[in-house]
Amino acid sequence: MDFYEVIHSRRAIRKYKADMVPRETILKILDAANWAPSGMNMQQWEFIVVSGEKKKEMGESYGRFAEVYTADWEDAARKAAFLQFARSFGGAPIIVVALTRGSKDETTRKMHLESVSAAFENLLLAACAEGLGSCWMTGPLRDEASIRRILEIPEDREIVALTPIGYPDMKAEPPARLDPELKNKVRWVD
Ligand SMILES: Cc1cc2nc3c(=O)[nH]c(=O)nc-3n(C[C@H](O)[C@H](O)[C@H](O)COP(=O)(O)O)c2cc1C
Repeated sequence: MDFYEVIHSRRAIRKYKADMVPRETILKILDAANWAPSGMNMQQWEFIVVSGEKKKEMGESYGRFAEVYTADWEDAARKAAFLQFARSFGGAPIIVVALTRGSKDETTRKMHLESVSAAFENLLLAACAEGLGSCWMTGPLRDEASIRRILEIPEDREIVALTPIGYPDMKAEPPARLDPELKNKVRWVD
């Protein structure tokens, strides 16, 4: 796939086929993540690839959290879709969790978060190029303690985001751009 085609066709996928992704493909997209730029070239990102029982546990935990979170939602269809996605991460065969080293210094922490975000976007784009779906998620971090417990993540690591990865079992429409002609989002200065 052409580079710009990848950029334009990547979508947040919330329903996946159960088929496992070959390990070589997982490693290929993680390699793309590992080639991101990083502040002071620290390359301090780390990834946890979750499948099997631990993935199931994560879904059960996020599902329980989602039930409380959506308790007063009036739109029944929206609520059902949210719960279904939360309980199994859309049925994806794996979840990739991105971590960074924490820092008490706010500027360093921000730098680390930006580096890992760059790596995470590489991962999502590479997944798309490989015919895989993904969905950048920070919602589950509202129940961060459970993720830390399930995956035994140490205190000195910060969870940046996670994504289910798998073969898409849905077609997502591209959301419209708010300013497609970049009239308001870009200011040219000379
Ligand atoms: C920082 C960040 C956090 C997100 N968190 C969630 C999330 O918790 N759950 C979810 O379903 N989607 C989440 N998304 C996906 C967005 O909803 C999605 O990217 C957006 O609606 C645009 O759709 P697209 O990715 O198909 O272009 C997140 C995206 C970003 C960049």
